[in-house]
Amino acid sequence: MLFIVILQNFENNLIKKGYKMEFKISEAIFGTRPAVEKPSLKFLETIKEDGLREIISKHYDLLRQSSIKDLFPQDDEEFEQAKINSADFFIQICGGPDYFNQHRGNPMMVKRHAPFKITPKARRVWLECYIEILKDLDIPEDLKQSFWNYLDIFSMWMINLPED
Ligand code: HEM
Repeated sequence: MLFIVILQNFENNLIKKGYKMEFKISEAIFGTRPAVEKPSLKFLETIKEDGLREIISKHYDLLRQSSIKDLFPQDDEEFEQAKINSADFFIQICGGPDYFNQHRGNPMMVKRHAPFKITPKARRVWLECYIEILKDLDIPEDLKQSFWNYLDIFSMWMINLPED
């Protein structure tokens, strides 16, 4: 009995720290755009703009070493600018200032991704790079989950090629 209580306590602590978070990549059906829910406002309130910029920067650094690296800017300066643009968008969608609109205009994400060949496999790699970053993020699990749900669903919208 005591052993079970200790085990449960241990598990609860893991959940609180977010270690139990499961990053499920949902199957994408080509051509469908499931409804997307924006991340919880508490997510940005907790990690702050700098925290979110750091996540995006690390994500891009991983993309650069991934099997889809050729999709992204090769030039260092352009690559750094891409991080800024992406972070501007995420800050905006998470409830922060509308930096993206100010610097780049209307997001129109599907249209902006149209020049790049984004297959279901590329989406998976893109999401897996996010998992690498998010799994170590020390914030409450529900907030991490809310950001993940947004990435998992909205990334389906960007797929514009059924297969490689
Ligand atoms: C939640 C889903 C996604 C969001 C919110 C998102 C967001 C963005 C944003 C804000 C930009 C910059 C656009 C600009 O400034 O004109 C961008 C660019 C880009 N995204 Fe995404 N993206 C998503 C999914 C994906 C996926 C799944 C891929 C490929 C596997 C991808 C590949 C690219 C590429 C190649 C660019 C252009 C290079 C760059 O500026 O980084 N994106 N994305």
